[in-house]
This record gives sequence, C-alpha cells and structure tokens, in this order.
Amino acid sequence: MKLNINTTLSQPELAQYLVVLVDASPIQQQLQAYQIQALDRLLETTQFKAAFGETLPLIGQVEQAQNAVLIGVDQADQLSVQKVYKIAQQIVKAVQKKYSRIAIDLSALPSQLHYQFALALTQASYGFDEFKSKKNEFLLTEIDLIAQQTELSDSQLNLIQAIHTGQSVARDLGNRPGNICYPEYLAEQAQALAAEYPELLKVTVLDEQQMADLGMNAFLAVSKGSDRPGRLINIEYRNDLEQAPVVLVGKGITFDTGGISLKPGAGMDEMKYDMCGAASVLGTLRALCQAKLPIHVVGTIAAAENMPSGHATRPGDIVTTMSGQTVEILNTDAEGRLVLCDTLTYIKRYNPELVIDIATLTGACVVALGSVLSGMFSPDDALAAELEQAGQQSFDRVWRMPVIDDYQEQLDSPFADIANIGGPKAGAVTAACFLQRFTREYRWAHLDIAGSAWNSGAQKGATGRPVPLLMQFLANRV
Ligand code: BES
Ligand code: MN
Ligand code: ZN
Repeated sequence: MKLNINTTLSQPELAQYLVVLVDASPIQQQLQAYQIQALDRLLETTQFKAAFGETLPLIGQVEQAQNAVLIGVDQADQLSVQKVYKIAQQIVKAVQKKYSRIAIDLSALPSQLHYQFALALTQASYGFDEFKSKKNEFLLTEIDLIAQQTELSDSQLNLIQAIHTGQSVARDLGNRPGNICYPEYLAEQAQALAAEYPELLKVTVLDEQQMADLGMNAFLAVSKGSDRPGRLINIEYRNDLEQAPVVLVGKGITFDTGGISLKPGAGMDEMKYDMCGAASVLGTLRALCQAKLPIHVVGTIAAAENMPSGHATRPGDIVTTMSGQTVEILNTDAEGRLVLCDTLTYIKRYNPELVIDIATLTGACVVALGSVLSGMFSPDDALAAELEQAGQQSFDRVWRMPVIDDYQEQLDSPFADIANIGGPKAGAVTAACFLQRFTREYRWAHLDIAGSAWNSGAQKGATGRPVPLLMQFLANRV
C-alpha cells in the first residue's frame, strides 16, 4: 500500500473516490475546502449528524471528486484508537474491490491519531487467497491522505509502509499450512529474502547434525519425532556493524501436535500458527530492509515440527541442553521452551545488546490476557518500559507479567536440574521462568503471543503481530 500525505487534494483527477471524515461540530464549516452542491439542503433532508460510522454519499455533488462520501466520527476529541481502527476498516472494506486509488481527508481526526489511522488502513487491506480458486481481486494500492494540519511525516509514512510489508509477510507465513510451511521452507524463505537484499542480510542455516555437534539436545528432542528435520535459521541485518545487535528469537514450531503428549483433536488445525513467533521475526527483518534503519539486528528462528512417532521423545526423557543444564521432559507438548532454551544459549555468540524472544508459548497466556494484549516478561525495567511504549505507539500492545524467582520451585525435578512444566498454576509465568534460566547473561524480554498472533472463528487468520511492536521498538532506538 502506497500512502501519500498532502494538505489539500492536490491531484483530484487521480482520486477516484474521496472520503471526508467529519465530526459532530458544525458540518458546513468542516467542508469549506470543497465545493458541494446544495449542501445545506442535503444535510437537512438526510439529517446527517456525523454519528460514529454514519455515511452520506455525495455522487457527482462535489466539484473536486466524481465520487465522494462523508463518514461521521462523532466527537473527535473523544475518539479512541479502537474507534479509529473501526473507521479505517469500514473505509477499506467498502472500496478495496472498486478503486485502485482513493483520497481520505482526515482533518477531523486529532493529529495524534493520524499515525495510527494510517497504520490501521494498511492493516485492513490485507487478504489471504493463496489457496482459493476464486481470488479476492483487491484493487486498492494507493491512498492519498489529506490533512490541513498533521504531525505525520514522510519518514513516519515510510515506517508504516515498511511495517505493512513485514506484517503481511508474517501473516502469509502464519496462514500457510504445515504441509507447505515446515522448517526447511522457513529456511528457504530466509534465504530468498537475503537474495533480495544481499547488501543488508546474511543468512546461515544449521541442520540437525550441526545442532547435535553443538549439544542442542533439547531442541533435537522436539524435532526428532518428525520426518521433517529441524533447522536453526540466523538472519543478520547488517546496517551498522559497530553496534552490538538486538537479537530477535522466534519460536518456529511449524505444526504442534503436542507430540506423545498429544493434543485433543478439536481445533488442532490452529497449531499451524505455532510458528508465528518465527514469522514475526522474518516479517520484521523484511520490514527493516524496506525501512533501511541504520541498526544491527539478528533474527534467529528455531524451526521444528512437533510430532508423535516411534522416534519421538517420551514423557520422562531427560536431555542435556546446550547450556549444560539437564531437563526432564514431563510433557512433550511444552516443546516451545525446549527449542527456545537451546536457541537462547546459541545466540550468546552474537554478544547481543539485548534479546527478545517471541513465542506462541502457552495456552495459559490466552486465559490470562485473551487476544488483545501480548504477554511481556522481563526482569529489565528499562527494556519493559521501551516495549510498553512501542506497543502503545503502534497499537500492538503488551502487558507486563511477572518473571520472578519465587515461581522457579514449580520447575523442580526429582531427576534433572529442571522440569519442562510447572503444573497448573501460573502456566505463562513458569514458562517464562524456564526460559529465564537460559538468559541470565544478557538483557532479555519474552513475548508470549499465544493469544495475539492469530484470530479464530469466522475471521480466522494470522494477525502479523507483533511486527508493528518490534519495528516501532527498533525505530525508536535509532
Ligand atoms: N503452542 C502451544 C501453546 C498454545 C496453545 C498457543 C493454545 C496458543 C493456543 C504450546 O506448545 C503448548 O502446547 N503449551 C502447553 C504447555 C503445557 C503443556 C505446560 C499449554 O499451554 O497447554
Ligand atoms: Mn505444545
Ligand atoms: Zn507449541
């Protein structure tokens, strides 16, 4: 989606359709920039009051545009970001199959909402029809934003467009099923991206033998039940090698059956989304290449499939992790922390400035926070504050959850250094505590996106979160 910003409708001939947002203050005054035939009579006969979401089509009545529509936002000073998202969705849904380019006059919105409105427009334009014979046939590719006054800058628009590209990459990857998107496929995607941006990216992929040589036995305990071999994928974004890198670690379980601790059948298809952490890492790197931020970032993806088979790990099996700590695998469905713990040890070689892991880690996080907020765990107050702020700015919000040692004893094992489950209480927290045992040597935050990475039900599909959050976080650091 291409976005432009101007103070007036500069090239009216290019705008096939003009949307003007209006609020509940006197409407004529808000429309002074436009010549509209018989406006007074029209407002009188239609009783248009600019209620939230109310529309008034103006066909052939506006001199500057063949087709126009007014959309009400009610009292502009009381608008929430949620409502701004609703308006954006309403507009995009109404026009995306009809017009390739539209103009939206958003002067009625308070300036501080312009950025989020523009981001919402791009997000609303996503569709996924790869496996449908009948395609979506979306035409919309360009939006001219018009605002008499705005704080929205060209660099912000570039960031929004980069976020949109990266978020769409993440959504596509998430939506692809496990028979198409498996560990080697994710590695190929990373390599294809590096081939597109050879001056910015360097990719290295480790196979299972190389991981075995490094002692990554917790990782391999997950992937060995599958006929599809696991991969450790490193994508280095090298646009300022002077800095120590921010390392992003993504859980990439391309399908999670639970392994021998098999999941119930209902809804198991949704476990194709168990690689959404990995997808968000790839999406963020794609966005970085577009935004060309002058930073150093490493994206590392722990890609494996969790299957039951004669080769699969048994409940009770004990493995030695790359860190040397031993783990008793009491439940093979707690596999995310197993692939992540070795990956979090592996990435120490990059001497990271800080590390953020992103994982669809626990059903308990969905119980705690639903799908609105991602769970954020970090012992580092400054890092937690940066993530909270980036989440607000990009409207990809997180809620800080505890990660403190009081919970560690739930992970005690009679046979090994640590068990891989902590019982029914505080499941999202004990999962974070498990990871913390492998991250004590650097600044670290963990994002549990089990509730936010995809929608279920009629609107089933990947959200591409938390690409907006991560990109905002990285952009804020520049
Ligand atoms: N991928 C799941 C977590 C999940 C479940 C995400 C449902 C989204 C929706 C993870 O691998 C898992 O199975 N976790 C277990 C952990 C438990 C065995 C300690 C869970 O949450 O039930
Ligand atoms: Mn699982
Ligand atoms: Zn999982």
